Amino acid sequence: MKKQLIAPSILSADFARLGDEVRAVEKAGADWIHVDVMDGLFVPNITIGPLVVEALRKITKLPLDTHLMIRDPDRYLGDFVSAGATTVTVHQEASLHLHRTAAAIRGLGATAGVSINPATPAETLADVLPFVDLVLVMTVNPGFGGQKFIPECLEKIRKLARWRAEKKLNFLIEADGGINAANSGKLARAGCDVFVAGSAVFKSADYAAAIAGIRKG
Ligand code: DX5
Ligand code: ZN
Repeated sequence: MKKQLIAPSILSADFARLGDEVRAVEKAGADWIHVDVMDGLFVPNITIGPLVVEALRKITKLPLDTHLMIRDPDRYLGDFVSAGATTVTVHQEASLHLHRTAAAIRGLGATAGVSINPATPAETLADVLPFVDLVLVMTVNPGFGGQKFIPECLEKIRKLARWRAEKKLNFLIEADGGINAANSGKLARAGCDVFVAGSAVFKSADYAAAIAGIRKG
């Protein structure tokens, strides 16, 4: 079985010590660093922007997995890629022309991701799948860390994995929200490749054990 990637979400890190926190999860075996960008419009919370991505780019070699929970993300794609984002993921619900947006991300030299909320059917992505590198399935409603995993989202991951095989596509499937060692095995068997975990990593006493636990499922 192929290796699952673990992407700790800095949303649950200690922001006063952000550089140390990122170095610590890198040392603890993280594969990617997940950066949650919120605008207070698409989601009811406000977090960080390109300046923080730029600062993190200087202190870690890991890919920066940038999850834009913002309206009209086209306005900021260039800023995030220039800041050093590796993957730029936009929400289907927040983008008017998803195909154009995915092409723009690739055109800027980054990895193009699209995301859907728990209430959004996987079918809304069907026609854009050949043009993206990653699909992020939200397993909680976006906006906050520490929420409970919604198990019904597993079926969406199975469906995407089935379409990927049938259509011979090769986008990665990423899950985000409420992920821990108790549900990562189910997610992996459903076809998930990348696990975002905020509180399960940063609220644990031992980051390496937490990451290894999620990977093991
Ligand atoms: C939620 C964010 C997630 C969040 C996950 O809107 O997209 O990345 O940080 O946090 P946990 O793992 O605590 O649910
Ligand atoms: Zn996220």
